[in-house]
Amino acid sequence: MPALKVPKRKAEPVKRKLKRLGVYDGKRRPKREGEFILLPVVDDPAVRELGYEVLPVELPLRPERQIYKNLESVLAERLSEEELKHLRRYDVVGDIAVIQIPPELEHRVDDIVWGLRKVHPFIRVVAQKGFHEGTFRIRDYSIIWGEKRLETVHRENGVEIKVDLSKAFFNPRMKGERYRLAQLVRDGEKILVPFAGVLPYALVIARYRKVKITAVELNREAYELGLENIELNRKRLKGEIEFIHGDAFEVLPELPSYDRVISPTPRGVDALVLTLSKAERWFHYYDFVHEAGIGDFKERIIEECSRQEKECNVRVKKVSDFKPHVFKVCADVRIR
Ligand SMILES: C[S@@+](CC[C@H](N)C(=O)[O-])C[C@H]1O[C@@H](n2cnc3c(N)ncnc32)[C@H](O)[C@@H]1O
Repeated sequence: MPALKVPKRKAEPVKRKLKRLGVYDGKRRPKREGEFILLPVVDDPAVRELGYEVLPVELPLRPERQIYKNLESVLAERLSEEELKHLRRYDVVGDIAVIQIPPELEHRVDDIVWGLRKVHPFIRVVAQKGFHEGTFRIRDYSIIWGEKRLETVHRENGVEIKVDLSKAFFNPRMKGERYRLAQLVRDGEKILVPFAGVLPYALVIARYRKVKITAVELNREAYELGLENIELNRKRLKGEIEFIHGDAFEVLPELPSYDRVISPTPRGVDALVLTLSKAERWFHYYDFVHEAGIGDFKERIIEECSRQEKECNVRVKKVSDFKPHVFKVCADVRIR
């Protein structure tokens, strides 16, 4: 994704200007290069009009832990060191903060809400999260402060995503992953996204690339939110999205094959054979794997490629921690 090459002494005023124009990409860190600073920017014509060189550079993403540390330091005023150790990571989805409160901190709920509101003054709801359940991977939430709703509009990667956490799966921590995939995609591709949810992957890719995406989702409420999201972002999207409501295992066999298939597979579902069969050039398959099983996971994909008479290069990337020693991983497959 692009970066603006700016002389060091001009970096601060230019950064302020980029922020004013809404084209500064705060998700990545700037980088020093000799007498210059590379400032992360979004792909927007306004950037080119500033008179500085625009370079395609991979700048590192800011770790989410930075945000977490803020809450920790705010709460240090009220919680003991021992209590702070029990504080879990949290997410902000639109104007909803979502946190897990372990039994050791149940008596500190009011302080945690106070801390979250201090760090994120715009939040209107604080919800405590349970686990993902069932085929639709919906979490069980209870609202512990604020308005009684779990519906909101979340902004990430230049798109607006309407979500209702009580009706459909959504994971804001995958924003870096969606951004990574959008960088890999090239204009003109035909892309299939089964298990599409409220369309976060499709929207982010279509925001930046002139592509044709076919997405499939079984949960009717996620599907309807996804349709709303296409409308909500209509003016921002370079690409087109066709959204199909149905069971991927019934719908995909009826579809043609695609340049790229992205499978954000629900946990516990094995869709490798089906989704790989629809990929012609690139394939991204997500799964949850114990670290000791990553080699076997890769091997299984290589075997399935040869069974389907596809010559493949497979790289497996850890995307996020799921539980101790178990990772959400993505197999990036190049098919020749
Ligand atoms: C892990 S979630 C990913 C959702 C979305 N891609 C995202 O990242 O937010 C998996 C999604 O697959 C959907 N799903 C589960 N089984 C399905 C099936 N057989 N066919 C189509 N979608 C399905 C669920 O409803 C859920 O929205």
